[in-house]
Amino acid sequence: MGLAIFAVPDLYMEIVHRISELQFRLEEARKKGRQIGLVPTMGALHPGHLSLIEASENKEDFTVVSIFVNPTQFNDPRDLEKYPRTLDLDISLLQQKKVHLLFVPSVEEMYPEKDTRVFDLSPLDRVMEGKFRPGHFNGVAQIVSKLFTAVNPDRAYFGEKDFQQLAIIRKMARDLEMDIDIIGCPIIREPDGLAMSSRNQLLKPNEREAAPLINQTLTEAAEKYRSLTPGEIKDQVINTLNEHPLMQVEYFDIVDSETLESISDWDSAPNKIGCIAVHLGEVRLIDNRYFI
Ligand code: PAJ
Repeated sequence: MGLAIFAVPDLYMEIVHRISELQFRLEEARKKGRQIGLVPTMGALHPGHLSLIEASENKEDFTVVSIFVNPTQFNDPRDLEKYPRTLDLDISLLQQKKVHLLFVPSVEEMYPEKDTRVFDLSPLDRVMEGKFRPGHFNGVAQIVSKLFTAVNPDRAYFGEKDFQQLAIIRKMARDLEMDIDIIGCPIIREPDGLAMSSRNQLLKPNEREAAPLINQTLTEAAEKYRSLTPGEIKDQVINTLNEHPLMQVEYFDIVDSETLESISDWDSAPNKIGCIAVHLGEVRLIDNRYFI
């Protein structure tokens, strides 16, 4: 008779709340020569977040995930208040992954005193999200720089869903001379094309039903883009979405993927990306698509 073999899940993960505990564990890992990957999140985890964790798992010996709803990047207090918080569920999702450390700090831990740092993120923060959410990217730079200093990972993983955020974090890490590779990962979508987002769970059923129109419209625009000018494509996308009774486009722009400058003719940038923000009832969604 053979021995019964039970499948035991890999419960690698340790949860820490303090920077001192985090650094103690990281020092142990570094002494063993581990390569460290960091995946910063605000929780309410979905397969988009998990894809970043998988990218880290595949490359690193040691993966740190952080969950922290960072108050300084919310320019609207109501948005901060209603941001979904699902820590128990998040922990159970992470326990199925090869995450070694989960860092869940309190606001006091990350901001023992008011962070008055102002980052020069120009010109990347002057457009799109930066224009419509004043102070947002400064808040992102504050928390990400603190996480980078606390963890000092070899690499940090971010999603292209937040394309402008990725560009800004790259700039911040360069400007602060941080020796951390910033890895961008592709957008993960629902089967109907809607970009996954923690905010999707705030959509009412009729808004959720309408939401795939955002990606559909971007995809159609990207398929035929050369037959029209950038200005004409922009007008078409904005008009199509605004015609839907539940949608209000905040901005749509087609920009150079390096400089984030708006383009006026197709040959002025080697890589072009269309970036959009749409209000659906109380919820604000963003998405983007390369124009190849
Ligand atoms: P959050 O919105 O939780 O996103 C965490 C990371 O997951 C970001 O890098 C984001 O781009 C990525 N992500 C979200 N949805 C994705 C999708 N559908 N496909 C691929 N990646 C996706 O972005 C933040 O948190 C915060 O601003 C943070 C960087 C943690 C700083 O507070």
